[in-house]
Amino acid sequence: EKGGYDHFMLKEIYEQPRAIKDTYRGRLRAAQGIIKMAGVDENLEKFLNANRIIIVACGTSWHAGLVAEYIFEDLARIPVEVEYASEFRYRNPVITDKDVLIAISQSGETADTLAAIKLAKERGAFVFGVCNVVGSSIARETHAGAYTHAGPEIGVASTKAFTTQITVLTLLALKLAKEKGEFSESKFHEFLSELENIPSKVQTTLASNPLVEVIAQAYKDSDNCLYLGRGYNFPVALEGALKLKEISYIHAEGYPAAEMKHGPIALIDDQMPVIVIAPKKGHYEKVVSNIQEIKSRKGKIIAIVTAGDRQVTDLADHVIEVPETIESLSPLLTTIPLQLLSYHIAVMRGCNVDQPRNLAKSVTVE
Ligand code: M6R
Repeated sequence: EKGGYDHFMLKEIYEQPRAIKDTYRGRLRAAQGIIKMAGVDENLEKFLNANRIIIVACGTSWHAGLVAEYIFEDLARIPVEVEYASEFRYRNPVITDKDVLIAISQSGETADTLAAIKLAKERGAFVFGVCNVVGSSIARETHAGAYTHAGPEIGVASTKAFTTQITVLTLLALKLAKEKGEFSESKFHEFLSELENIPSKVQTTLASNPLVEVIAQAYKDSDNCLYLGRGYNFPVALEGALKLKEISYIHAEGYPAAEMKHGPIALIDDQMPVIVIAPKKGHYEKVVSNIQEIKSRKGKIIAIVTAGDRQVTDLADHVIEVPETIESLSPLLTTIPLQLLSYHIAVMRGCNVDQPRNLAKSVTVE
């Protein structure tokens, strides 16, 4: 059932090229220059007339929501707020019938997300679901939605659900950008064809696995870990930290790289591994100067870089390369080595990777 892998988590990490393809297959028609999503096509006016999009989710799904915030605002020019479902539901939020609420949930059973949906519906919002489990409570409770088609995710640590959620939300943002006239035909085409390249680029990224294992060996006994990224890769830093803490029980924090100097920099010494997500596109020079700040405090730098990188490679203790892509698609690649790093560290520490202590696959109580 684990298909020859030692754990479901590793199997699911390796399934990502296929899962991402399954998620856009039938929707993305690059040759015709269209994106078909039934749940969106039937409710297009709701999206186009929305004052804003509110995204609610928990955990990893909330991180996918944060990536989507960058995509929607950057590409479709629609204002977005991303909320923890548990906070949103208890804060008497201001919601109108001009709001579109997108709920993201792998399981479709998360209690707080479900409650947030019910509240938004009562107050007149149009509610759209992004779920993996077909027929789940959230899929049934929403007005419309789009499934991720990742296939069953068994490992408690979410991996392919995350990348397929980002894929669905990217399709949605691209579609709205096109409908709103934010995109020229050529820019739209460039995005569609690059999205089609992503599965093979994920495959290439997976080939870094042996290198990631060597890096894991060097840092498996760390007590703390810091993850830094900017822009589209700030949520990837959060997700990398969550993945490490939940399965290896190492304390980890994710931060926007520029926030480091507002506090976390005090933690940096020669015992602190800092994982920096530093692809070529997206505030590269700024990240380079953040890396210099870490280095001068003797922090150990593990950098995720674009293939062929020179500047960060010269500064970092370890680099893991990912293929070049469009900035807004980079989270689909940069997140892969972070999943592998957590996996190997957890295995080396003897942790129960697929069923970490104190955690359940779906959180059906608040
Ligand atoms: O099923 P959901 O996507 O609603 O679950 C949300 C979180 O409980 C989930 O992402 C959790 O944080 C994972 N264990 C993260 O790997």
